[in-house]
Amino acid sequence: MEMKIKGPTKLVGETRVGTSKNAVLPILAASLLTDEPVTIHQLPKIMDVKVVLQLLKEIGAEIETEENDVTIRGEIFNLYPSTEWVRKIRGSFLMLGPILARKKRVRISLPGGCSIGSRPVDLHLKGFHLMGADIRFVGGDVVAEAPKLRGTRIYLDFPSVGATENIMMAAALAEGTTVIENAALEPEVVDLAHFINTLGGRIRGAGTSLLRIEGVASLHGGHYTPIPDRIEAGSLMVAIAATKGEGVIHNVIPGHVKAVSAKLRESGVEIEEEADRIFIRRSAPIQSIYVKTLPYPGFPTDMQAQMMAYLCGCENSSIISETVFENRFLHVPELLRMGADIRIEGRTAIIRGRGEGLSGAVVKATDLRAGAALLIAGLCANGITTIEDCEHIDRGYENFSEKLSRLGAEIDKSPS
Ligand code: EPZ
Repeated sequence: MEMKIKGPTKLVGETRVGTSKNAVLPILAASLLTDEPVTIHQLPKIMDVKVVLQLLKEIGAEIETEENDVTIRGEIFNLYPSTEWVRKIRGSFLMLGPILARKKRVRISLPGGCSIGSRPVDLHLKGFHLMGADIRFVGGDVVAEAPKLRGTRIYLDFPSVGATENIMMAAALAEGTTVIENAALEPEVVDLAHFINTLGGRIRGAGTSLLRIEGVASLHGGHYTPIPDRIEAGSLMVAIAATKGEGVIHNVIPGHVKAVSAKLRESGVEIEEEADRIFIRRSAPIQSIYVKTLPYPGFPTDMQAQMMAYLCGCENSSIISETVFENRFLHVPELLRMGADIRIEGRTAIIRGRGEGLSGAVVKATDLRAGAALLIAGLCANGITTIEDCEHIDRGYENFSEKLSRLGAEIDKSPS
């Protein structure tokens, strides 16, 4: 699939953020913690959600979808979900915790690395092992068995989002209390804790680095609406600012995008916040800034590529350091094809603004955030930009190009 963007263009108008992909994926996995019906509202229609729903069906869950709602009854018959579906997205590794908690045994393919890094899962497995699980590696799969999961104290060497979520789900049904030290603080982790507590879980400290999960014998069903997608919100903010546009973005929790707002303001963008919306406008030249990606509440790594595309429009040099993933500059060669002047030194990128702007070119999306960055660059470039493999964008953004088109972008999508 490829998309063509005609630039330069100015984005003006109102738009709305969808539900968070990275909140929904663990919440769907956590629906396996109970065999009573769980209804999730406002599910985003994105590829990653479709894959996880398929995987839940394969495990044995009954799924009923109605418009944007899905009701899941977490029956588990298949303890070995097929590699085919598991390997389609990393998020499927989050099934390990719930299946282990419910059935005491699970075999699941190790998630492969991806374009942004090797993506190890050692911290996930460290947690399960400390809770009493026997962990073995068989033919590229992890086999985990635990006649009984016991609460314990687990220190995470890195505040891993996925490890915090996977361990939290297993601990929800363990015997006794589990304490996770150096837990991830991301809003999606907090949302998962809130969801599990809606089902009768006893999780305290979500949003702090000390999580306390008191195991319960079983969880009941319930209803839940996950949080809005803070990365989609940030991507829309950067797109409007990059095109010297003006817009109102609805269904945003301003507190979740504080780091992005702060760096955009530093670069000269006007931002006003209300309870669930953000007003953004850029009329001045982009000022150079220094960005360093960090675990939440630091600047999100999932916004690094989009910020780099934005800073290509700055007259001076800016610096971006990527401290979370070891290989998350694959969008740089593609931006260079558009005339950007970017030098990589280890995990730091120096972006020398060109003032006169980028020029349209044929580029390739390597992951969904790089795809969003190239889209933003195409909106600012002179001429036509063709993004190949743009289906990466649809993995995590619902109707992103349509939202931008309603703001004035000229975008055509076609099978390549
Ligand atoms: C989640 O991935 C997100 N994905 C990622 O979003 C996001 O970039 C990342 O968190 C960081 O915020 C989902 O929520 C589905 P991590 P996750 O475990 O859980 C190392 C997107 O674009 N690590 O916090 O895999 C790891 O190598 C995606 O939406 C270990 O060393 O991220 C990395 O360097 C991309 N051992 C760092 O921690 C482990 O056991 C952060 O990984 C686990 C992780």
